[in-house]
Amino acid sequence: MSRYAKAHVSPEGPGDSRPTALQVVEDEGMEGKLEGRVIVITGTSSGLGIETARALSITGATLFLTARNVRKAKDALADISEPGRTEFIEMDLESFESVRAAATAILQKTDKVNILINNAGIMAVPGLEFTKNGHELQFGTNHLSHFLFFQLLKPALLAATTPNSHSRVVNVSSAAHRLNGINATDNYNFEKGGYNPWVSYAQSKTANIYMANEIERRYGSQGVHATSIHPGGIATGLSKHIPEADLAAMLEDEALVKSLKSPEQGAATTVWAAIGKEWENKGGKYLSNCAEAKRGDDVSDMTSADYASHTYNRESEGRLWEDSVKIVGLTDDQ
Ligand SMILES: NC(=O)c1ccc[n+]([C@@H]2O[C@H](COP(=O)([O-])OP(=O)(O)OC[C@H]3O[C@@H](n4cnc5c(N)ncnc54)[C@H](OP(=O)(O)O)[C@@H]3O)[C@@H](O)[C@H]2O)c1
Repeated sequence: MSRYAKAHVSPEGPGDSRPTALQVVEDEGMEGKLEGRVIVITGTSSGLGIETARALSITGATLFLTARNVRKAKDALADISEPGRTEFIEMDLESFESVRAAATAILQKTDKVNILINNAGIMAVPGLEFTKNGHELQFGTNHLSHFLFFQLLKPALLAATTPNSHSRVVNVSSAAHRLNGINATDNYNFEKGGYNPWVSYAQSKTANIYMANEIERRYGSQGVHATSIHPGGIATGLSKHIPEADLAAMLEDEALVKSLKSPEQGAATTVWAAIGKEWENKGGKYLSNCAEAKRGDDVSDMTSADYASHTYNRESEGRLWEDSVKIVGLTDDQ
């Protein structure tokens, strides 16, 4: 059982006894223990990415922090900026060209990456919009660009792995994945109509989980492990597309308000997956509340920390992988 299980039984809202990301680093005894290791984190200009970077900086690792707006990330993380140990890299996930340029910039500075955290994301975009490469905005931003980024950094993740320290990938998904699996191969971009902001978000967040499960299947035996996580509910910039009336209605739900975490607490499961001893040599699991998620029901409830029947689906995981390789323009996956 997770050492944090009790703290999650009766939440009292942001700042209660549930762990912060920093507490996880301390509880794992990892302060200053990752000097010389390399951690890459996407989306470090807001919300959970900031707190993930802040906590992991305590480990002594070298951090490559990506953001589409580097100025914003630098301002947010001025307190941990250290020349040579924190590198800010521009990456706009709406553009494969930008993803390729970011990966190149990182690989020019290091040939090893120990931990990759795919954290950046957007949620519930109201209408059907497209990335610069013509893919539905949430699927393209949240999944396809992170898939390409992983593929480009894969040689460095494989190069970094040693028998005593396997490499890790953490995909930040969401309980909202419970609302929908992935569309048919010819409908990832809602080509057949029926766009819905939440169905689209759920597809992209299911894709985050499937990508992690498939990384584990393909590369776990080579020392690259992957998990996916739900961070909890946290008030961040992510909710910018939710109508104010809907947000106000949510805040009237006392149980929901008590379940909310602070950004520091919201980054805890990511950090636990990235450096926790529990995930040293394994992966392929969906985590929430600093624990492996339990099997829940299939009710369309995006606040549940449990997993649904479609959270693990070998056939869909394989299909998405094969399709994603083609979509991002790669021919060889090995
Ligand atoms: N907050 C929650 O309750 C919650 C719940 C479940 C899952 N999550 C997941 O947690 C992750 C982090 O979300 P958050 O709550 O920290 O949200 P946030 O405060 O909005 O931060 C999202 C980050 O992603 C970046 N981003 C968005 N679009 C991008 C693009 N095209 N290119 C590059 N970066 C881009 C943002 O950059 P800008 O600063 O430039 O916008 C920001 O740094 C997401 O994957 C989200 O799905 C969050």
